Amino acid sequence: MIDEKTDGTALPEHGLPAEQVLDEIRALRAADRPTHGGTLFAYVYDPAVPGLDELAATAHAASVHVNGLDPTAFPSLLAMENALVGAAARLLGGGPGSAAPDVVGSVTSGGTESLILAVKAARDARPHITAPRLVVPSSGHAAFAKAAHYLRVALDVVPVSPETLRPDPAAVAAAIGPDTVLVACSAPSYAHGVIDPVAEIAEAAAAAGVRCHVDACFGGWTLPYLRRLGAPVPPFDFTVPGVTSISVDLHKYAYAPKGVSVLLQRDPALRAPQYFAYADWPGYTMVNPTIASTRSGGPIAAAYATVRHLGDDGYLRLAAVTRDAVAGLADAVRGVPGLRLVAEPESTVVCFTSTDPGLDLFVLVDELTVRGWHTQPQLTYADLPASVHLTVTAAVAPRVAEFGPALADAVAAARAAGPTDLPPELLALAGTLTPDSLTPDLVAGLAAGLGLGGAGGDAPAGPLPGRMAPVNTLLDAAPPALRERLLVEFVGLLQRPHW
Ligand SMILES: Cc1ncc(COP(=O)(O)O)c(C=O)c1O
Repeated sequence: MIDEKTDGTALPEHGLPAEQVLDEIRALRAADRPTHGGTLFAYVYDPAVPGLDELAATAHAASVHVNGLDPTAFPSLLAMENALVGAAARLLGGGPGSAAPDVVGSVTSGGTESLILAVKAARDARPHITAPRLVVPSSGHAAFAKAAHYLRVALDVVPVSPETLRPDPAAVAAAIGPDTVLVACSAPSYAHGVIDPVAEIAEAAAAAGVRCHVDACFGGWTLPYLRRLGAPVPPFDFTVPGVTSISVDLHKYAYAPKGVSVLLQRDPALRAPQYFAYADWPGYTMVNPTIASTRSGGPIAAAYATVRHLGDDGYLRLAAVTRDAVAGLADAVRGVPGLRLVAEPESTVVCFTSTDPGLDLFVLVDELTVRGWHTQPQLTYADLPASVHLTVTAAVAPRVAEFGPALADAVAAARAAGPTDLPPELLALAGTLTPDSLTPDLVAGLAAGLGLGGAGGDAPAGPLPGRMAPVNTLLDAAPPALRERLLVEFVGLLQRPHW
């Protein structure tokens, strides 16, 4: 909790000593999930390489005040960006002597920005299309929906099979129409870690004269290494004809600190409409390849240092360690009656569901949290069951042997506790309410009933409830539109100053 002396704001009347400020931050950080140590299976990517954090922090500090706004003023940043783009391109089938010799790219702040820019470039390349559309499998990352929303591009969502978790390429082809500006697919999908049939999808897109983006934000930096280690990774990169752009996040499996992704375009002409340039005002002429204009050099320098320090051999070693951890975690899941892998792991995700109505997944997630294992619940979607997602990174490897017994123990506790017992009228409400019928009073009542902090009007927002199963159960009972509205309302209760 923030010390009362802060008066709920960051601005004290008199400046505070540095050590005191750092103590405050350390105290606040104590409430966070553990970013290191291999027990948090989402949000963080930890290679557990000694000294890497210190190196990245030093590099970050060296460039933090450099501004990516103008590459001519700060050639250091331009050089590092070009080198990172080159590394990503090489890894993903581009560069001199490859099938994509003219590949270019941009360093963005993250996967979402890369996807928004891929959609923007595709949209703006076809200005005569007044109602542009984006075809994406339902397993595509939510950031595609965000891009479509921000850019006023309509979404054509192609369902994935509940068995393979992949779209039928014929259905993707059928969804492409005259107003389609982009077809997207994933390598792999975040939710289940499966690789879409990229070659078939790209072929269909090319046949229709439409761009095809491969979202390799999650796995683009590991799949090439897994393939080199012998995994049967299908072609998904620029070696596939028809793939026009690829995104890969360096703050995921390149193990760079947060704030860095790369968006590659097969050639400069494809990238041109991604830029925004403006000279029709009295200030400096502006030309931005990305959404932000002023950009700190810190994350880019940190990524550059990370990639240079780990090197190709380092990433190969980390991929091997991660692959073995994935296998160990999947075995642990297979060993527990009542659990089923949603997909056989083919990248660095382990995703499982419950086959037993007496074993409530959301309760299980809470039981795992109590035991120090932080997993990510995924809600029921269409004909896909609710599931538990594990993003596996190299840091998990030394902990794998502990996970099986913890999982078995948590499952036993979840069975003993039984499924979440929300009042039937609450569940009925979740099934029947429309987003528009939610009033502030209703939201406050729901939030208070679920123990969400700040729900009591003027009461200071407390921490989140110790157990999230009631919240997840309520959301799970609601259709997506109501889930979205409830999420906005609930998170809005948390995100406000606490005077
Ligand atoms: C496949 C995929 N695409 C896009 C994103 C969005 O990335 P970010 O959270 O960096 O914006 C993610 C994040 O997990 C992802 O896994």
